[in-house]
Amino acid sequence: MIKIAPSILSANFAAMGEAVQMLNEKGADWIHFDVMDGNFVPNITFGPDMCKAIRPLTKLPIDVHLMVEHPSDWIAPFSAAGADVLTIHVESSERHLHRALQAIHAAGLKAGVVLNPATPISACIHLLSECDLVLLMSVNPGFGGQSFIPETLRKIRALRAEIDARGLDTLIEIDGGVNPETAKQCIEAGADVLVAGSAVFKAKDPGEMIRLLRGSDNKD
Ligand code: DX5
Ligand code: ZN
Repeated sequence: MIKIAPSILSANFAAMGEAVQMLNEKGADWIHFDVMDGNFVPNITFGPDMCKAIRPLTKLPIDVHLMVEHPSDWIAPFSAAGADVLTIHVESSERHLHRALQAIHAAGLKAGVVLNPATPISACIHLLSECDLVLLMSVNPGFGGQSFIPETLRKIRALRAEIDARGLDTLIEIDGGVNPETAKQCIEAGADVLVAGSAVFKAKDPGEMIRLLRGSDNKD
């Protein structure tokens, strides 16, 4: 079953509690939590205190995407704030990605790496056994509302083939420009989790959009 992870980057920051409540009611699977440090990416969002603030409002897994230069510094704070999944960019200044993934697991969270559009999947091949998920960026990170980069589909297919050939259960998550059309392409290529910011938060009916993205309208 495909999981949909709406990104609260696209929510009204003045009403974050209501946004989370809405996602609880509308059938979201995970809450995608975009952390930007104004250094790794040219934008700043929120950090562990926001995670701590929304934690009591939902039982859904909080999926923290660290777009920060020094991701290892944030493992303990996000663990304490109640995050469930932590993903770190292979392009960050973390030289010891394997150790960082082990540290995330030791803190009791699910762990994964993120690849920018320009980064080949070879960057994560030797980390797969430590990854509960791999997040493939389908836009350049930093902002919501950008267009899906079609080349991502080739990366999804190649990573799917590698994961299946090795019998791993690593999930493939896609982030950026996901709408009903690109969601279908990603699912066909082998994605498991789809992040959607603007598609969900700008929809007239977010619940219907979540079902549409998941493709469940075809199944049930
Ligand atoms: C971009 C973020 C995404 C973003 C996706 O840097 O990582 O999670 O919120 O937004 P949409 O779905 O609008 O492309
Ligand atoms: Zn993200």
